[in-house]
Amino acid sequence: MPVVEGEEQKKSKRSVRERADAIKPFTCKNLIAVIEDPSDVKNIGTVIRNVNALGVEKVYVVDPRKALPDDWQEMREKKSLSKTSVSAVKWSFVKRFDSTDDCLDHLEKNNFHSLVTSPHVKGKSNVYLHEGDYTEHAKLAVWFGNEKRGISDRAVERSDGCVAIPMFGMIESLNLGTSSGIVLYEVTKQRRDYQSRYRKRDKRGERAEPLPTVMPQEDAQT
Ligand SMILES: C[S@@+](CC[C@H](N)C(=O)[O-])C[C@H]1O[C@@H](n2cnc3c(N)ncnc32)[C@H](O)[C@@H]1O
Repeated sequence: MPVVEGEEQKKSKRSVRERADAIKPFTCKNLIAVIEDPSDVKNIGTVIRNVNALGVEKVYVVDPRKALPDDWQEMREKKSLSKTSVSAVKWSFVKRFDSTDDCLDHLEKNNFHSLVTSPHVKGKSNVYLHEGDYTEHAKLAVWFGNEKRGISDRAVERSDGCVAIPMFGMIESLNLGTSSGIVLYEVTKQRRDYQSRYRKRDKRGERAEPLPTVMPQEDAQT
């Protein structure tokens, strides 16, 4: 027997579509969060949730253990990811790579610049999170490292610089989920502000009236 869609279902589909349309202009274009060799699926889910909530365009996962499927549709249906990301995986584009070099080759071929994150001083240039300008490059990938080993030397070598969240405690680092939330909040805030003021890169195409950078509060998700 054919299943007839009820009024309630139709209404809920409509409101999901309306929400998806309303958030579109706030998404940070050409911004990718990369997680390098995460060992815990809970952390992958948390990063995807942060990415979705903060309006980052995509997530790449360097996944040498082949924990994730290659196919996006399969990825969206993967129960462990759906649960740990509270379904954000259904709404965010996630792509896996076999190695750090594969991911960097793909990013560089598409003209992306990479920044790594670490609690330690690494690589060519180092900034504290609040000191960085994350609008300098039209296409930007922000890398987060493995839970134990941190970011790899290879990723550091092929990136433009390293960003640290200032720390004031006795412990060495923040966890992956927390640090991705903090870093991506600052990066998306700056890039949304840029997108609201300029149409093109290098501060060209300034709008007479900047676009809003936040959604009206009544539209905010509960
Ligand atoms: C649990 S930490 C890894 C700790 C590891 N022992 C190390 O040396 O980096 C996992 C990831 O979170 C991010 N992270 C943690 N604390 C950070 C901080 N204070 N500043 C920037 N990124 C941080 C980095 O991407 C790091 O690779």
